[in-house]
Amino acid sequence: MSAQAVHPCNFVIFGATGNLASNKLIPALYRLEQAKRLPEKLIFTAFGRREWDSEMWRAHVMELLHAKVKDRGDEDICARFVARFNYLQGELGEVDSYRRLRTELDEHQSSAGSNVIFYLAIKPSDFSAVIKNLYESGLSTPRGQHRIVVEKPFGEDIESAQYLNELLHRYFDEQQIFRIDHFLGKETVQNLLVFRFANTLIEPLWNRNFIDHVQITVAESVGIENRADYYDKAGALRDMLQNHLMQLLTVVAMEPPPALEADALRDEKVKVLRSIRPISKRSVHAHAFRAQYAAGAMDGAIVPGYQSEPGVESNSITETYVAAKFYIDNWRWRGVPFYLRTGKRMAEQTSMIALRFRHPPQQLFRETPLETIDPNWIVLSIQPEESMSMEIHVKQPGLDMDTRMLQLNASYRQTNEAPLDAYETLLLDVIEGDRTLFIRFDEVEWAWRVVDPILKYWAQERDFIHTYPAGSWGPGESNRLFDSEDQEWRNAL
Ligand code: BG6
Repeated sequence: MSAQAVHPCNFVIFGATGNLASNKLIPALYRLEQAKRLPEKLIFTAFGRREWDSEMWRAHVMELLHAKVKDRGDEDICARFVARFNYLQGELGEVDSYRRLRTELDEHQSSAGSNVIFYLAIKPSDFSAVIKNLYESGLSTPRGQHRIVVEKPFGEDIESAQYLNELLHRYFDEQQIFRIDHFLGKETVQNLLVFRFANTLIEPLWNRNFIDHVQITVAESVGIENRADYYDKAGALRDMLQNHLMQLLTVVAMEPPPALEADALRDEKVKVLRSIRPISKRSVHAHAFRAQYAAGAMDGAIVPGYQSEPGVESNSITETYVAAKFYIDNWRWRGVPFYLRTGKRMAEQTSMIALRFRHPPQQLFRETPLETIDPNWIVLSIQPEESMSMEIHVKQPGLDMDTRMLQLNASYRQTNEAPLDAYETLLLDVIEGDRTLFIRFDEVEWAWRVVDPILKYWAQERDFIHTYPAGSWGPGESNRLFDSEDQEWRNAL
């Protein structure tokens, strides 16, 4: 966010040949190159298992850019970007590989200086081996500025998250640790702060006096995309809800921070998490619902169910859909349910935050053809569309007292403004050392505390899971979470 001096550095990507690096990191880094935001003296070291050398790796990156980045710009930019890379073949669990990495970093000091960024684009189960080996090989002892970027999920429950944090703190200072949740880099999420706190019009309405309930939906049409190894152990609750959706919830619900700086913002987010009413064992069923996709039709073709995905056990009960209800017991939100849901292989790829207002207190239109009036909504679409709209009633022109719902649409991107990927913003922040949009450990810990009772309860109920056909909006049974009959999932923007 803030523009700080950009220093030369060596940016090491662990898991360089994995999904995350190919789908998100490398395209985003390329766009930073295109936007001339990468420091001149920055080089990348791709650390991967494959028996490749730097030439082969560069050819691979070039191919990847051709396949994944539509507006690649000219070939000179591609060539400049690709030339920044070196490849180091190594095993995450072998300290020798890290010693070789150290030698390599030393060799590049003249061109990239002694600042190093370690990016852990790897499975959470490999985090601790990498952290320990960075220490064993002397790599965690900074010669210049060192930063370590840790992807979510941070741990697999509260205890493992605490262990991981303690391990990181053994070798790195908090200032060096960047816990990433890429949803915080999304434009609409950042814009939500502006929407709420820069508009006098909005803030007075943003509370229990006016809001009936809040819905946060992250629906994905994709399945698990060759990630069975990770996903089958994680499930939707750990993969999405504990981190991305909880972060969205905190940004919707938090109080205005005294300043837009890292700790002020995080303090407010933590207060929200701490105010969430704990879910007791007895009430897990009333607060959380899980399901798994079965085969179904998508875009005119039948796609397989989760249990038939490569690498998934045929009797797996891992959830690919989760819906949950939380209450935030503070002055602003007491009594307002927050409904969160996310799923794979859903009808559409869409993420949104929708706030439904209360019914008008007086049924003034009782005696007219209108009878009852639908409540107003504010809908913030996060992706693929980035928009904000407000639904209000207007009278239909004509002799009768009829109304229609009008959408005031505040799409804020102008046609000549290219969309940014969240990773572009966040990777630049890492390079520039701005931690505002990264997560502090107490946020992670409190988010685990909120979902932990659900995880523990589900871990005991291992013999059944609801299903939904791929291509649907998830199972109707999740409606049991709603507090009243006039509440239902909102699927359309
Ligand atoms: C990742 C999850 O963190 O976020 C994936 O591990 C998910 O399962 C992805 O598909 C969604 O992110 P985006 O930015 O593509 O919506």
